[in-house]
Amino acid sequence: MCGIVGYIGHRDAYPIIIKGLQRLEYRGYDSAGIALYDGENTLLSKTKGKVEDLKQKTETSISISGKLGLGHTRWATHGVPNDVNSHPHFSNSGDLVIIHNGIIENYDSIKQALIKRGYTFESDTDTEVLVNLIEEVKKKEGVKLGKAVQIALNQVVGAYAIAVFDKNKPDEIVVAKLGSPLAIGIGENEYFIASDASPFIEYTNNAVYLEDEEMAIVRIGKEIKLRKIKDDSIAYPNILELQLNLEEIEKGGYEHFMLKEIYEQPRAILDTYRGRLLADKGIIKMAGIDQNLEKFLNANRIIIVACGTSWHAGLVAEYIFEDLARIPVEVEYASEFRYRNPVITEKDVLIAISQSGETADTLAAIKLAKEKGAFVFGVCNVVGSSIARETDAGAYTHAGPEIGVASTKAFTTQITILTLIALKLAHEKGTLSQSKYHEYLTELESVPAKVEKALLSNPIVEEISHIYKDSPNCLYLGRGYNFPVALEGALKLKEISYIHAEGYPAAEMKHGPIALIDEQMPVVVIATRKGHYEKVVSNIQEIKSRKGRIIAIVTEGDVSVRELADHVIEVPETSESLSPLLTTIPLQLLSYHIAVMRGCNVDQPRNLAKSVTVE
Ligand code: F6R
Repeated sequence: MCGIVGYIGHRDAYPIIIKGLQRLEYRGYDSAGIALYDGENTLLSKTKGKVEDLKQKTETSISISGKLGLGHTRWATHGVPNDVNSHPHFSNSGDLVIIHNGIIENYDSIKQALIKRGYTFESDTDTEVLVNLIEEVKKKEGVKLGKAVQIALNQVVGAYAIAVFDKNKPDEIVVAKLGSPLAIGIGENEYFIASDASPFIEYTNNAVYLEDEEMAIVRIGKEIKLRKIKDDSIAYPNILELQLNLEEIEKGGYEHFMLKEIYEQPRAILDTYRGRLLADKGIIKMAGIDQNLEKFLNANRIIIVACGTSWHAGLVAEYIFEDLARIPVEVEYASEFRYRNPVITEKDVLIAISQSGETADTLAAIKLAKEKGAFVFGVCNVVGSSIARETDAGAYTHAGPEIGVASTKAFTTQITILTLIALKLAHEKGTLSQSKYHEYLTELESVPAKVEKALLSNPIVEEISHIYKDSPNCLYLGRGYNFPVALEGALKLKEISYIHAEGYPAAEMKHGPIALIDEQMPVVVIATRKGHYEKVVSNIQEIKSRKGRIIAIVTEGDVSVRELADHVIEVPETSESLSPLLTTIPLQLLSYHIAVMRGCNVDQPRNLAKSVTVE
C-alpha cells in the first residue's frame, strides 16, 4: 500500500507533492514525508500521522522551495509508524533519496551484507536497505543511477514502486515497478510520478502506466526512457490520454467522501450500464463478454475470486449466475484460493472482482488461474490498474474514483456489472424466458431511480443511529440474495465505527448466534417482500421473543414486519435478484452515521488502506 508522489520540472514541487499526497491518502495514512532538492541540499521532513500533520511540520521547519521532490504517505509494513520509519529515506552518503510502495522480502539478508560493508541504518524499514543497496552498486560498479537501480532491483525479491533521485544529478528521477502501481504524468518540460493519476490530473492528461518489471528515467528536457529491469532491454511507453477530471476526486460539498460516494450510487449504477444495456431492444452489449462468449457458455463453472466487499459482490453474483444462467459458481477469498492448490482446468472461467485493481491476493489468484489455462475476466473500477491489465478480458464498473476507504459505490456497481453478465448469459443459454429477460432489463433500468428513493431513508437512519451508536455489538441477518448484503452491512459497521458486528444467514441464527441475543443486542434484518419473506418473518419472531432490538429493512408498504420490529426502514420494491442494490443503501448510511456520531474518521479508518497491495 502507501502512496508515492514525485515531481521534476519548472514549478515548485512542494504544493504539488502535498496535494498529491492528500489525494493518495486512501492508500495509507499512518505517516508521511517529503524530500525537496532546493538547488544545493535535499531537505527532508517526515512525521507520524497524516499529510496535514506533515504540512504543518514542514512549513514551520524547512524551506519548501525546490523544483524536484519526492513524497510518501505510508501504510506500515516493516517498522512501526513513526517519524524515522517514514519515507523518504536517504542513502548513507546522503546523496540518494528514495520513496517506495511495496515490500522487499529479502531485505534482512541484504541488510546484513551491507552492515558488513560498513553501512548503518536509522530505520527498521526495508526501503532504507534498498536505497543503500543502490548506493553500494553505484559505487562498486561505477555506474550511473539508472543502471545501479536496475542492478539492485535484480537482487531483491518482493514488490515495489520506487522513485529515486541523486542530488548530484538533480535533472532526473529514476522510477521502477513490480507489483505496485506507478503512473508517470508527462507535462511540458516536467514529469509527475504517482501511485495513480489523481495527483497530477490538473497539470496533464498524458500518462504512462509502467508495466511490471519496467523502469523509467525521467529527465528534464528529454523524452521518457523505459527499460526492462531484468535485461535492460528497451521498452516503449504507451502514452495514454486520461479521462479523469478534478471534480470527480473532490468532496463536492459533502462532509465526507463516503457520504458523497453513497449519494453518487444512482449515477454510478447508471454509468455502469450506460451503453451496455439497451432495454428497448432487448440487448446487452459488453465487448469483453461478446468477444469471449463461447468461453463463458462452455465453461464447466465460474470461479469468482475477490477480497472484502468485492468478495461480497461475488457472493451476490453466485446467486444470480446460478439462479438465472444456471452456471455453477464458486466464490473464493483470493487469499485462500491462491495458497490451497485449487483444482482449476481450462474449462473454468475465473472472474476477479476488484475496485482498485491492485489487490495483491486477487492479482496472485489471477496469475495462478492463467497458469492453469483458465480464462480470466476482470471486473475493476480503476482504469489501467494491474488487474485490468493482467486479465484476458474484462469490464470496468465506471463508478468513478472511490476515495472513502469503506467501499460503497464500488459494491453496487460491481453487482450491476455482474447482473448484466448473468442476464446476457442467461439469454444466450435460454435459461430465462424471453418475457422474464425483458422484465429484468426494464427493472434494471429503474434501479437508479429506486436507489435515489432508498436514499430518502437517510433522516430515519440517522435517528436510528443515535439510538444504537454506543452498542458494543450488532448482528446482521439476511437470506438468499440478501445474505451477502448482511455480511457487507456488518463489514461496513465494523470497519468505520469499530463496533463488533457479524453477518449471518438468518436461518443460521439458531445454530449459535441466537445465544447472543438479549435486550442489548441490535439485530439488523433484511426482510424484503420478495425472497423468503415468511421465513425471515419467523426469524424476526425468534429475535423478538428473546427481546433483541430489531431494525428491519423492508419493502415499501410492509405491514407484518412493522408490527414486530423496533424500527423499519423502507426501500422500493424490486425483484429479489436486484434487491441487494437497494437494501445495501440504508446499511451504508447506518454505518456512516454511527461512525460520525462516535467521532471516527469515516474516510480513513484506523489500520486500513484503500488499496491492499501486500498479501
Ligand atoms: C471494505 C473494503 C475492502 C475492499 C477489499 C478489496 O469496505 O473496501 O474490504 O473491498 O480490500 O479491495 P479491491 O476491491 O480494491 O480489490
